[in-house]
Amino acid sequence: MTQKPSAIGFQYLKETRYARDTLRGEPLDQYPRSPLYKTYPPDTPRVQLPPAAETFKADFWRCVQQRRSLRDYLEQPLSLEQLSALLWASQGVTAVQHHFALRAAPSAGALYPVETYVAVHRVEGVKPGIWHFHVPDFSLELVSPGDFRRSLVLAGLNQQFLGTAGVVFIWTGILGRSLWKYRQRAVRYLFLDAGHICGNLHLAATALGLGCCPVAAFFDEEVEQIVHANPEEEIAVYLASVGRLAGRP
Ligand SMILES: Cc1cc2nc3c(=O)[nH]c(=O)nc-3n(C[C@H](O)[C@H](O)[C@H](O)COP(=O)(O)O)c2cc1C
Repeated sequence: MTQKPSAIGFQYLKETRYARDTLRGEPLDQYPRSPLYKTYPPDTPRVQLPPAAETFKADFWRCVQQRRSLRDYLEQPLSLEQLSALLWASQGVTAVQHHFALRAAPSAGALYPVETYVAVHRVEGVKPGIWHFHVPDFSLELVSPGDFRRSLVLAGLNQQFLGTAGVVFIWTGILGRSLWKYRQRAVRYLFLDAGHICGNLHLAATALGLGCCPVAAFFDEEVEQIVHANPEEEIAVYLASVGRLAGRP
């Protein structure tokens, strides 16, 4: 190990390791439990997403081969069907088993601490703004209407493609969903969950002939403000841009 044992990251990893002598006997529910779904007032403007199209066909192995982080996007908007397919592939419900609504990406303990928002810059049929993905209804809820291209570029350390994308996925984490079970180790799992989600998104975008780029370089507080997250409960975790590419249908 090349880092100093006192460094905060090393210390965190050390203190959250599972070991045979410390795992047993610790009570669960030391932390209050946050609800599985975030809810907005009933009068919040909504867009019902069309079912993820089965007409989108692609060869899985080719998608793995072709997946790249792509940052040059055309001005043309994404279709609502494409956005719907991207949301479904990353966080849609794909099965219900024993009262658990299981999603496209795995989640530690099926606790789903990651929340999905989309900053819509250009998507047919969806007005620009920040939208929250409501998983159980497969719909979008309007958080704030408006043009967020500049705010996202600034929040993303001036990475211009966050403004030229058709849509930017914004993932936050509500640790209160998993702390009660995994305690401080839940932080590790939150970021693993987000990696799975973004991996699915990236492959889905490739399958649709769209460009996608994961982004972890951003000012956390600014991203949290963009989605109106209270950082005491919900923290910025990860972004990904998606846009149309030249030479693709
Ligand atoms: C956790 C993570 C964070 C990343 N953050 C950024 C970023 O902030 N800006 C960016 O342009 N690319 C970012 N990337 C994309 C990487 O630069 C890219 O995956 C890497 O260069 C390998 O290229 P490939 O994805 O085309 O295989 C990130 C990727 C990951 C996995």
